[in-house]
Amino acid sequence: MATLKSVTKVSAGLKGLLNEAIAREIAVSVQYMWQHVQVMGVKGVAVKDHFKQTAVAEMKHAEKIAERLWYLGGVPTTKPDPITVGGSLAEFLDFDIKAEEKAVALYKKIIDQAQKEGDITTAFIFKEILEDEEEHHDLFTTMREEV
Ligand SMILES: [Fe+2]
Ligand SMILES: [Fe+2]
Repeated sequence: MATLKSVTKVSAGLKGLLNEAIAREIAVSVQYMWQHVQVMGVKGVAVKDHFKQTAVAEMKHAEKIAERLWYLGGVPTTKPDPITVGGSLAEFLDFDIKAEEKAVALYKKIIDQAQKEGDITTAFIFKEILEDEEEHHDLFTTMREEV
């Protein structure tokens, strides 16, 4: 089998950061989907689709990042970060706001590192994902105000 050779070479450190990103995307994908399943009460009914849609968006991020990492010669992790579902809608949202804040910080770091290494495509991919994560953060903080 021919070895896939990327025209872009990146450091092991950047590949490691991409795997950190994948681990957290898998985790939040499960976290939000299980919140969608477990949410209760009238407020829960009103917001449950948002958890599902966001869970699906996160799985797409995981796929996108894994494709990029594989192209760069890395192997995508299958191990998620710790998953924190919570026991009430308020708790769900507190965990989710924290998760999105962590995503924003990590993805800014990845964009910086990718740019330093001349990996424009990875920087571009993470700029797009960063925009989604800021939208998720905005969604969860808005939902939290009414809980
Ligand atoms: Fe994401
Ligand atoms: Fe997100």
